[in-house]
This record gives sequence, C-alpha cells and structure tokens, in this order.
Amino acid sequence: MAISKACSIVAFAPLLLLNLLVAPTAAVKVAIIGSGVAGSSAAYFLNKEDPTHEVHVFEQHEYVGGRVKDVYLAGDRFEAGATIVHRLNKHMMGFAKMLNLTEAEPVYVGPSLGIWNGHEFVLRLDSVVGSGAWWARFLDSWVTRMRMLWRYGLSPIWEQQYVTAMLANFTTIYDKIAVTPYASMEALLSDMGLYAPTQRQLAEELLAHGVDPLFINEICVAISRINYGQNTTISGLAGGVSMAGGDGNTVGFAQGLQRIPEGLLALSGATVHLNTTVLSVTTTPKGYKLETTNPQAPNLFDAVLVATPLENAPNLHFNPAVKVPPRKMQTTHATFLRGNLNPAFFGQPSGTDLPKLIATTESPAVNFSSIGVIRAYPDRGDFAFKVFSREKLDDAALDQIFRQRNETVRVEWSAYPHYSAPEIFAPIKFDEKGLLYYINSYENAASATECAALFAENVVRLLLHDLSARKVNACGWRGEEQAFDVTDSGQKTCVS
Ligand SMILES: *[C@@H]1O[C@H](CO)[C@@H](O)[C@H](O)[C@H]1NC(C)=O
Ligand SMILES: *[C@@H]1O[C@H](CO)[C@@H](O)[C@H](O)[C@H]1NC(C)=O
Ligand SMILES: *[C@@H]1O[C@H](CO)[C@@H](O)[C@H](O)[C@H]1NC(C)=O
Ligand SMILES: *[C@@H]1O[C@H](CO)[C@@H](O)[C@H](O)[C@H]1NC(C)=O
Ligand SMILES: *[C@@H]1O[C@H](CO)[C@@H](O)[C@H](O)[C@H]1NC(C)=O
Ligand SMILES: *[C@@H]1O[C@H](CO)[C@@H](O)[C@H](O)[C@H]1NC(C)=O
Repeated sequence: MAISKACSIVAFAPLLLLNLLVAPTAAVKVAIIGSGVAGSSAAYFLNKEDPTHEVHVFEQHEYVGGRVKDVYLAGDRFEAGATIVHRLNKHMMGFAKMLNLTEAEPVYVGPSLGIWNGHEFVLRLDSVVGSGAWWARFLDSWVTRMRMLWRYGLSPIWEQQYVTAMLANFTTIYDKIAVTPYASMEALLSDMGLYAPTQRQLAEELLAHGVDPLFINEICVAISRINYGQNTTISGLAGGVSMAGGDGNTVGFAQGLQRIPEGLLALSGATVHLNTTVLSVTTTPKGYKLETTNPQAPNLFDAVLVATPLENAPNLHFNPAVKVPPRKMQTTHATFLRGNLNPAFFGQPSGTDLPKLIATTESPAVNFSSIGVIRAYPDRGDFAFKVFSREKLDDAALDQIFRQRNETVRVEWSAYPHYSAPEIFAPIKFDEKGLLYYINSYENAASATECAALFAENVVRLLLHDLSARKVNACGWRGEEQAFDVTDSGQKTCVS
C-alpha cells in the first residue's frame, strides 16, 4: 500500500501537486461577519488560497465597505472614512493595482498648513513647494525647513527615524505570515519587533528617541488628532502608523477606497448578505449556528470569522460567551460641507487666506480636530471641506467657523479604538478547539486598512492551517470528538 502510493505520487506528481495546492482540505462553509477591508480581504485570501470553500459574508448595512465609504456633497464624491494608503502597504497597493484604481493626490489640497490652539496659529507653513503629500512638501521647502529647525531643532529628523524604523519592521511580516500564521496578536507583533511600542505611549516613545516636547505637543498631537481623534497618549505603534501617513509617501485613489472591498468581494465569489445583522453565533456539535435578521441566509457553518470590532456589533452574542478585554471605541464626527471659512473666528482680518489644512493642538478652547480643504471650486469661489471633531458640531458651532456654508453632511463613526497604552489584545481564536476567529483584535495595535488586510490574511492562513490539522467528515470537523452518537448496536450516527 505504502509503496503503491509512493509510486503513484511520483507518476502523477504534477497532478497531485496541483490537487494539494488547490484542495488541501475538504471544502467547508465559512461565515465572515463584516464586509469592510478585513472581511473582504478575508474572503479574497480564502478564495485565492482554496476556492473550494463556500464563503458567505454578512453585512449589517446596505452597502459593503465598513469604514471605507463614499460620501456625496453637491453631487461630488468624497471619502467619509479611510482615504489614503502608504506606498509600502503591500496589500492595499496590490489590491488597488489589481482593481485598476487610478492614483490621485491625497485628499488635502495643498499647499498650506496651520496648527491652531484655539487662540492663535502656533505654526503656519505657507511657502510650500514640490510634490508628494502635504507633509513632504513642507519639508521640500528650505524656508520651511529653516522655520522648523528654528522651532523644533532636529526633532523632525528623529521623528522620521522612528517612523521609518517602524515601517521597516512592519514590512518584515508579509513573508512570515505566508509561512506560519500566528495564533495571537502578541506573538505576531513580537515577531514583527512591534509589540513593545504597543505597551508605551507615543509621547514616551518619542521622548526616548530624542524628540522635543514642543514638537510632540504641536506636530505629533496635530497628526494623531487628525488620524485617530486622540492625543499622544495613544500607543507608540498607533502613533507611528498615524505619523507614517504624513511622510509624503502616501496616495489616494480617484475612484475611492470603497472600490477595494467591493472589488475583493466580487473577485472572491463569496455570497454577500447585505442588510443582515448577525444576532448570535452558537457553537454546535458540528460547527456553528448563526441567527441573523435575514431568514433567507444560510445559518449552519463550519467556521466563522468575525471581521468587525465587536464594539460595533452590539447585537451580536456568542453561545458560549467569548472573553474579550473591554475596549472603548473613539467616536469621530466627519462633517463635510461646501463654503468658506470665517477669518474672524481665527482672529484674522476678513479677506485673509487661511491655511488649507488646519490642524489643532489639544486644548479645551478647540472644538474640532482638523479642518481640511478637500476640493477647490475656483469658478464658484468656495471649497469643499472635511471637518473632524470628537463631538458633533451643531449648526451654531459651524456658523462660527464658516462665514458661508451649504450642503452640510454629517457622518458619525465609531472609528477606531480609544487607545490607551499598554494595550491589551483580545484573542484571535475564540474557540480553542474550533474554528471561530476574531480578526479585529488587531485594532488595538493600529486601526488602518493595511493592517485590516494583513491581519485578515493571517486569520485565513490560521483557519486553513487548523483545517488541515483536523479531519472534516460527514459530522463536520468536530466529528472526531463529539459529534457521534453510538447506538445500542454499536453504529455511529451524527448528533443532529
Ligand atoms: C484591470 O484591467 C485589466 C487590463 O485592462 C483587465 O484585464 C482586468 O480585468 C481589469 N481588472 C478588473 C478587476 O477590472
Ligand atoms: C524593530 O524590531 C527590532 C527587533 O526585531 C527592535 O529591536 C526594534 O526596536 C524595532 N523597532 C521599532 C521602531 O520598534
Ligand atoms: C489626552 O488624551 C487623554 C485620553 O483621552 C486624556 O486623558 C488627556 O487629558 C489628554 N491630554 C490633554 C493634554 O488634553
Ligand atoms: C433592511 O432591513 C430592515 C429590517 O431589518 C428593513 O426594514 C429594510 O427595509 C431593509 N432594507 C433593504 C434595502 O432591504
Ligand atoms: C463648541 O461647540 C459648542 C456646541 O456646539 C458651542 O456651544 C461652543 O461655543 C463651541 N466652542 C468653541 C470654542 O467654538
Ligand atoms: C451655497 O450658498 C451660496 C451663497 O449663499 C449660494 O450662492 C449657492 O448657490 C449655494 N449653493 C447651493 C448648491 O445651494
């Protein structure tokens, strides 16, 4: 037997190899909860690794994409959630290329920056030249460089070194995940050399790298308030990811990032159940039973991948309950409007040009995190703006900041975790013996589209690895241990 098997392997090696690559395990039915970048990447990677599995994606909203989403303002499309991708982000750049998206200038129309503290602009950079993201353009200008040197010494260089080193560590993980998936975020981050910065605050980390407190409290705070709506008490890792977005190496896409989850799901061949909230996931002898708001959707699965922060799925319950450390999400209000800023609000004479990007320091006198021009309409003499704030800005608050305004659209996001280093991670595997996984445990490291895709890939590989380690039979993957009833005559039947 052994010999004949060996011979046939040699004889049919190419065929067998193909088989091994395509179908290493029996086909299983997989439920993915959430259709954002994490869920759609998981569906895509699962199909790419092994197209025999049957994949269903459950989405509580009527659209796919989660926190990458279009918003329309007077007929023009903008992005309400995530907008830019770093060029070193292998997955997001690869997806965009595969889906034929066109690179576009990042959202903020240059070329000027002001950092507002509620009373004055502590820094204004108006003479900006060169190309790339807003940040890079400032550094391209020697006037700016001199001004920065004068105010912050060499801090910009130390900050860049910190971010560059972090990115270098980050990029080592792609090859590692492909070989051995990780069963916990701690193990994964430690192997990347990036666990330590999740345990310390950004401000502590930067001080240890020689960055001046003034630079931290003006520039770094301004950036973390734009990206995460929080100050430099966020972890070093989240802060590093946030500051990487300002290194001039980022791109946006003309068609919008929402095309990525849409495209990935289309390519994956998964069945997407829109407007379907998953209410419960119950572990059964054969696998998992889902209760959803959609009676037409299938409900029995061999494996379940949770691809949304559990905090954003308040109706979802697990039987038995799962253990996750408490985590608060940070609410961010994105207000989009057409109009013109009110120079008087910023203590300037009327007719003054205000910076195209107004970032802010942490101060009770400041009601918003940032205000950015996202498109100019020279023929109309107005602009499209995106305003981020922690609290909803009511009409009265907006009418102080803008002298003229119409087409106001408000989007409220439960956007990312409220970070507080040292970060504690939820498990990636909820069911030690089973196939129930949690992708968005990763968000305690850094909430970002590339991280969503990367950590979804890790979970998919972990699932395939776990599947290959167990036999799936007519009684599901638990058939080996607990799914059989043995009748009096000694016959085995599946537990129903
Ligand atoms: C992208 O463009 C190429 C070449 O035009 C085409 O073959 C491919 O199908 C396109 N991909 C998608 C997802 O539209
Ligand atoms: C990168 O990883 C190495 C170890 O692998 C570590 O010593 C270093 O501190 C890490 N860099 C950063 C910026 O965290
Ligand atoms: C920074 O954020 C933390 C957490 O939200 C908060 O406790 C702290 O007061 C903030 N710092 C300042 C200077 O406002
Ligand atoms: C979405 O589901 C809700 C109830 O769960 C229903 O009232 C609504 O009409 C549905 N929308 C669509 C587009 O199916
Ligand atoms: C902040 O917003 C609140 C509520 O919208 C408003 O009452 C208050 O005057 C605003 N404060 C500043 C400094 O703009
Ligand atoms: C916006 O307001 C301006 C000035 O009040 C007005 O001229 C313009 O027509 C308005 N635009 C729209 C789309 O309502």
